[in-house]
Amino acid sequence: MKELTVTVRRFDPDVDKEPRFVTYTVRVSEGARVLNVLHAIHDSIDPTLSYRYSCASGQCGSCAVRVNGEPVLACMEEAKDRITIEPLNLAVKKDLITDLVPRLDQIASLLPKTEVVLPKKADIDAIKPLKDCIECLCCVSACPAVDVTKFLGPTAMRQEMRLALDPRDSGDRILDAVRDGLFTCTTCQACWKVCPKKIETPAKAIEKLRAHANRRGFTLPRHKEVAAMVKETGRSIPRTSESFLEKVGDVIEPDGPVKATVGLFIGCVYNLRQQQSALDAMEVLKRNGIRVIIPKEQVCCGSPLIRTGQLAYVDELKQRNIETFTSRGIDTVLTMCAGCGTTLKHDYQTPFTVIDINELLTQYGIEAPAKLPIKATYHDPCHLMRGQDIHDQPRELIRQVVDLVEMPSICCGSGGGVRAGNPDEAAALGKRRGEEIKKTGAEIVITSCPFCEFHIAGHTDKPVKNIATVLLEGYREKDRKTAAGKD
Ligand code: FES
Repeated sequence: MKELTVTVRRFDPDVDKEPRFVTYTVRVSEGARVLNVLHAIHDSIDPTLSYRYSCASGQCGSCAVRVNGEPVLACMEEAKDRITIEPLNLAVKKDLITDLVPRLDQIASLLPKTEVVLPKKADIDAIKPLKDCIECLCCVSACPAVDVTKFLGPTAMRQEMRLALDPRDSGDRILDAVRDGLFTCTTCQACWKVCPKKIETPAKAIEKLRAHANRRGFTLPRHKEVAAMVKETGRSIPRTSESFLEKVGDVIEPDGPVKATVGLFIGCVYNLRQQQSALDAMEVLKRNGIRVIIPKEQVCCGSPLIRTGQLAYVDELKQRNIETFTSRGIDTVLTMCAGCGTTLKHDYQTPFTVIDINELLTQYGIEAPAKLPIKATYHDPCHLMRGQDIHDQPRELIRQVVDLVEMPSICCGSGGGVRAGNPDEAAALGKRRGEEIKKTGAEIVITSCPFCEFHIAGHTDKPVKNIATVLLEGYREKDRKTAAGKD
C-alpha cells in the first residue's frame, strides 16, 4: 500500500457558485489507477464525490478526466502523488461528471443506402484505423479549435471520414465535414496524443477529408493562393527581400574541429521571412563544430499543401527535395522549422536521416554560453513537441542561457493553414497564448518554429526569440566578458 495526496476539482451546482479545489490523502495499492483513488475518496472520505466509470478496463470511455491538465482515462492512468484531477474541458454537471450528450449527439451515424451494398476487405482495411473510438471525448477536451470556433471536434471528423470510406453509407460526408469546421483544425496533434486508442485523427481523417474536399472544390481561397504560389515559385510565402539561401554560401565551415556534417533544409519561412533567426542558428552551429551544407535548389517541403489537402503537386516537391540532398551525398538533413521537420520525418520517405536543430545540438553537446539574467518562457511548437516528440531538448539548451519558467503547452493557432484560412480563429488562439505568456511573468518568449515565432509576436508585448538567437546572445555575452577580462 502507499499514501497519495491528490487535489480534486469539486463543483456542485446546487451549492457552489464556483468550482473549488479540495485536497485528499488516501491509501491505495501499489500500481493504483486514478479511478482507485477516486473510489478511495468516495468510500472512505466523501461519498458525495461524483465521477463516472463502468468497465474499469479502458473499453467504455466513461471515466475520462483531466490529470494535471491532460485528458486521460481514470481507469488506465497510474495514480501519482500530488496530481490534480479535474473534469474534461466540457460543460460540468457535477464534480468530475461532464455533459457528454451534446458532443456525442454530433457524431454522425451511418445513413444506409436503399440498395444492399457490402463492404469489401479493402474497405474494411481502410476503415480500421478509424473505428476503435470509445467516445471518451478526451480529444474534444484537448482540441484548441473547439474552444474558439463552432468546430464539432476531432471525433466528429473521425466519424465523417470513417463513414466516407463505408460503401453502405449514403451521406455526403465531405460536405458535412466542411460545414462542421473541417478547415478550423490547426493539425496541432493534441487530439491523437491524448486518444486512449491512438487514433491518428489529423493524418487519417482531417487531412484525408481535406484532400476529398479539394477534389470537390471546397478548398479555402487563401489556401488555393498558397498552392498557386508554391507551384509558381517553389515557395509558400512571397519574396520581399534577398532570401536566406542567397545570403549564405554553399557550405558553412565550423570554427573548430568538425563534429558532424549536415545538409540544411531551410523551409520557406526562414528562407524568406524569419531570416535573422536562421542566420543566428548558423552562427551557433559554426561555434559548435557542425559543418553545414546548404543546397540552393531546395524548395518548399509541401507542408502547407499536405495540411490543407492540396496534394496534386506534393510528389514533385518531395522528389525535388530528396534529389537535391541525395545528389550531394548528404546522409543527415537538418531542419529548424518544426513544420518542415515533421513533414520530412512523417510525410516523406527519405533515404537520409532527418534531425531537428534541438536534437542535433543536444546530441553533440554545446559550448556553454554565458548565463543571461533573463526570465524566459518557452512555447512548445505543436509540430516539434507532438509531431517529433521533442520536448526536453529545447529546455536543456534554454536552461544553459536563461532562467526558464514553464507555461501550459497549447497551440498558438498558426498551424494547419488556420492563420491563412481562418485569421479570426488564429487570432483568438494567439490571444489565449498571449494571456498564458503574461501569467508567467517572463521577460521574453523563446520558441523553435518560425510560424510560432511570427504568430505569437503579434499577441504578446514580450520579445519572441528563436532558441538559436538566445544561445547566440549567450555566446556574445561570454565573448564580451572574456574580452573585458583581457583588457
Ligand atoms: Fe471504462 Fe475507464 S471505466 S474506460
